[in-house]
Amino acid sequence: MRTEIDELRALIRYHEHKYYIENLPEISDADFDVLLKELKELEAATDVPIPPDSPTQRVGGGAELGTRLQHRNPMLSLNNSYDENELREFAERVQRLLEDAPVEYVTELKIDGLGVSLIYENGVFTQGLTRGDGEYGEEVTDNLRTIRSVPLRLVETKTAVPPVLEVRGEVFLPKDCLDEINVQRKSEGELPFANSRNAAAGSLRLLDASITASRPLDIFVYTLNHAEGTEFTTHTTSLENMKTWGLKCNPHTTSHKSIEAVQDYYERWVEERHDLPYETDGVVVKVNNFSQQHELGTTSKYPRWAVAYKFNAQQAITTIENIEVQVGRTGVLTPVAILKPVTLAGATITNATLHNEQEIQAKDIRIGDRIVLERAGDVIPKVVEVLTTNRTGDETPFEFPERCPACDTPVQRTEKEVAVRCVNVACVAQLKRRIAHFASRNALQIEGLGPATIDQLVDKALVRDVADLYALEVEPLSELERMGVPSARNLVRQIDRSKETPAEKLLFGLGIFHVGETVAELLIERFLSLDALGRATLEEIESVNGIGPQIAESVFDFFRHNQPLLDKLRAADLHCFTVAAESNWTEMSIATDSFFSGKTFVVTGSLEGMTRGEASNEIKSRGGRVTSSVTSKTDYLIAGEGAGSKYTKAVELDIPILTAVDFFEKLQQPTK
Ligand code: IVH
Repeated sequence: MRTEIDELRALIRYHEHKYYIENLPEISDADFDVLLKELKELEAATDVPIPPDSPTQRVGGGAELGTRLQHRNPMLSLNNSYDENELREFAERVQRLLEDAPVEYVTELKIDGLGVSLIYENGVFTQGLTRGDGEYGEEVTDNLRTIRSVPLRLVETKTAVPPVLEVRGEVFLPKDCLDEINVQRKSEGELPFANSRNAAAGSLRLLDASITASRPLDIFVYTLNHAEGTEFTTHTTSLENMKTWGLKCNPHTTSHKSIEAVQDYYERWVEERHDLPYETDGVVVKVNNFSQQHELGTTSKYPRWAVAYKFNAQQAITTIENIEVQVGRTGVLTPVAILKPVTLAGATITNATLHNEQEIQAKDIRIGDRIVLERAGDVIPKVVEVLTTNRTGDETPFEFPERCPACDTPVQRTEKEVAVRCVNVACVAQLKRRIAHFASRNALQIEGLGPATIDQLVDKALVRDVADLYALEVEPLSELERMGVPSARNLVRQIDRSKETPAEKLLFGLGIFHVGETVAELLIERFLSLDALGRATLEEIESVNGIGPQIAESVFDFFRHNQPLLDKLRAADLHCFTVAAESNWTEMSIATDSFFSGKTFVVTGSLEGMTRGEASNEIKSRGGRVTSSVTSKTDYLIAGEGAGSKYTKAVELDIPILTAVDFFEKLQQPTK
């Protein structure tokens, strides 16, 4: 028999669905609050435990961040298309692989937020993960529960809710909420979020779920990933069912019989997306039929049955109010334009890098200039043009500083490079950047160690080098501004967890000049440990395939001058000092017989959707070798967007060049 409490819960769920999912409220907010209050009172008056799917249980206890869990199957990313030709190429490939069988496409808006996976067991929401790196996500169940459009319990319909259901979707922050949150953040002395996506990600990964609850996050579910015992034949029927179970799917999803119709849909949204209350950065095109999706399969990174057809970069005009100079971890001085805030592709832009002194001179950029700013997808906004005809005469040419703005040491200019440097190794600005690099995602991955915390740690002399991080305790940390005990505890936990980082990531994290991810991997592959690398002679380092004399010297010098730091890290119990890495080069090189096996590659420039580290892993897993400099021994250069000197060198040496598209094609070829 349903109790009064059960009835009330069902009624509240019904109204939540009407309000947050269908956007068709039937009662006022005040009446809704009365119902919720009544339920809370009834629950408080009984001894019966409150089930986690009760509408009163959206804000629970403190969320535990940092629990990384493996996804049931990888949350893949999407390959991108940027124009009609690339869309056609996608369709041609689909047709070719499906041997010209008729194909129906589904188009959806590509929501610019944060990918998540939601698990329902017996209809109750039990676990939520972020996409993370695709393989492992971070548990954010408590924070997802606060999102009103995430049903805590699904509705039974004629298609029974499967006992275990995993759906995937995008959490986002509506456009008009960003400004509001940023005004509040600034008043609290915090940095504003650059765009809605960052705001959504930041809000979902907060330690305090009650703050997440105060952010009006929303969700669109776009994939049924796993439905035990239930089979659908098409993506559209799965979406229809998910909707009937109470999940929120985007209403602008359409199916098409031809790729021309897909192009029409795209063109419609190029215009109309500006009227949507949320950010979209393209259209996702999917093959509708599940058995065809299955036949097309996936690469390790992308499904072959879907593509993201991205909207073009957008431009905006604004004014340069000032030019500031920032000091990087290697001492390079980078000029940054401080802009009159302008909205561009959904983000409020307040600054843009001007790269270096030469760039300012070449474009004749002055303080007070009106400029054209461009931003494409994730890329940092850049100044594409100075509107010189708008000049009033009040603009001031910029004088590059002769002294480091952080430590006042005279800067150094050399003929060899455009960069201007601060050569003071004790410069605090450099130390701060080195710590940020050490903690970054591809290095030691210490979550929660952001710029504001690093500033305080260095300024208060709690940290004088990266090894000092391992001596930090909750007590002084929690006294830092905007920290508090839960965040301090989490940070200490994250720092502790980073002790398990493998040697190549630590080597990369040390920020040695010329040692990027690939070089670090090559060195550890050869020497297996930092200690062995530290003992190696210059000749031994240089003899590693892919390591040139400049890199070898830089590494050799680093180990000569930084023994105290390395000793301190060893004493801090970083595991890679005691556990040697395993060499798997020989195994891998004979493991597969693919286009890549036995060949040597260099990867340069940016490959849309894949980092160079990921590209290297793909090559290595197919038996190829990746080196960092182009020599006569290089078999192929893989050149992405913005390839520079390596490209020129490859042309000079007549080394074959693969574009990003060629490379992705090769990756898709099956290994024998
Ligand atoms: S489908 C294997 N559909 O875009 C299928 N993704 O750049 C992968 N995204 O990681 C996802 N809107 O987080 C799909 N309607 C939509 C989407 C969408 C946004 C995100 C998703 C994905 C990223 C790829």
